[in-house]
Amino acid sequence: MIALWLFGLLLSTTPLPANGQPVVIEPQLGLPQLTIPDNNPLTTEKIALGQMLFFDRRLSADNTLSCAMCHIPDQGFSNNFITIPVGYQRRKGRRNAPTLLNVGYLTPLFHDGRAKTLEEQAWGPLLNHREMANPSPDAVIAKINQIPQYRQAFNDAFKAPPSKTTLGQAIASFERTLIAADSPFDRWYYGHQEKAINQMAKKGFSLFSGKANCIRCHTLNQETALLTDQHFHNTGIGTRGHKTNVLDLKKRDLGRFEITGNPTDRGRYKTPTLRNIALTKPYMHNGRVNSLEQVIHFYNNGGIANPQLSPLIQPLHLSKDEINQLTAFLKTLSSPHVAALIENIQPKN
Ligand code: HEC
Ligand code: HEC
Repeated sequence: MIALWLFGLLLSTTPLPANGQPVVIEPQLGLPQLTIPDNNPLTTEKIALGQMLFFDRRLSADNTLSCAMCHIPDQGFSNNFITIPVGYQRRKGRRNAPTLLNVGYLTPLFHDGRAKTLEEQAWGPLLNHREMANPSPDAVIAKINQIPQYRQAFNDAFKAPPSKTTLGQAIASFERTLIAADSPFDRWYYGHQEKAINQMAKKGFSLFSGKANCIRCHTLNQETALLTDQHFHNTGIGTRGHKTNVLDLKKRDLGRFEITGNPTDRGRYKTPTLRNIALTKPYMHNGRVNSLEQVIHFYNNGGIANPQLSPLIQPLHLSKDEINQLTAFLKTLSSPHVAALIENIQPKN
């Protein structure tokens, strides 16, 4: 027994074997235990490899653009100064870059829900001709295979060379570690610390879950708060400026309809989480709304009228004070752990 125990101790001080001990992510106050897919257990090696890939500009066709340049860690893993980020050779996409904080809890992914898993999602930007613009998965894999550091890292993580599957698995593993909860709101609501948020924010939460009815879509329960129902709704924001785009088929954005072909899905987009929302302006799938106050004004006016507007979006008749209270509440959703998280993942060379 003792020999076995000693052997275990020795092993734990040497690098973990491939697919070694699963890494367990401790849940933070306000979020549930993260579900890790059975076919991609988290390991230190996969996370380290995914991190390296995330920051690597060589992942784009002309070696200029990394994932981190659109999902900028210092800007809430989104892009605070550009409504719609610019990709390969300055090509413009159609949508705003969502935060990657807590993305491991979200499914489906993308504003229109076109990817089910993070493993699958990673290949979206890699192959999108407006983003990283690689011609094929094989081209990406061939390029990575030429880099000895990656051959080694894939071998450490998977005991296998880079492939379409393992690359997606490594990036997904890294993304699952981007957890940021335990916010002042969580400490008040779940941690019962009365002073964690002020009176104004508490009134804001009453509005959020009462008169303003935000909670219908940005949901929470007695133990945890994802602040998204992971469903699709039409708030009307997608119809703003539509007329100018109507003939430009490439730029036209019909939301969830593009995936399902169901006419009632026109202009529906996925409800985003509101965690860390103060860090991730501008807002909405098209980045058209620049501040939280403006988002609330938008809802206060009952969204934008269109044939598919959700019946849950109605004029709210909030006073100026109430708008301020709701804004104050939204600002209590920022995790105090984001700075340390960013510090931890910065490339070390
Ligand atoms: C050119 C900018 C750009 C680059 C580069 C980029 N992304 Fe994105 N990312 C976006 C945009 C824009 C969206 C939303 C697109 C949509 O919904 O149609 C998005 C969506 C996502 C989502 C979905 C999040 C959610 O809440 O649904 C994930 C995850 C993600 N990106 C990860 C990555 C990874 C990993 C890489 C690198 C392999 C990457 N991105 C590279 C701009 C970018
Ligand atoms: C009918 C469901 C629904 C209701 C009710 C609702 N939202 Fe939303 N919310 C959404 C959807 C869907 C989006 C994404 C729209 C888009 O991207 O075009 C969104 C987006 C947002 C955003 C921007 C998030 C981001 O990352 O860009 C904020 C902030 C927000 N909502 C706050 C609120 C507040 C505050 C209320 C209550 C006044 C509210 N929502 C009520 C569904 C809803």
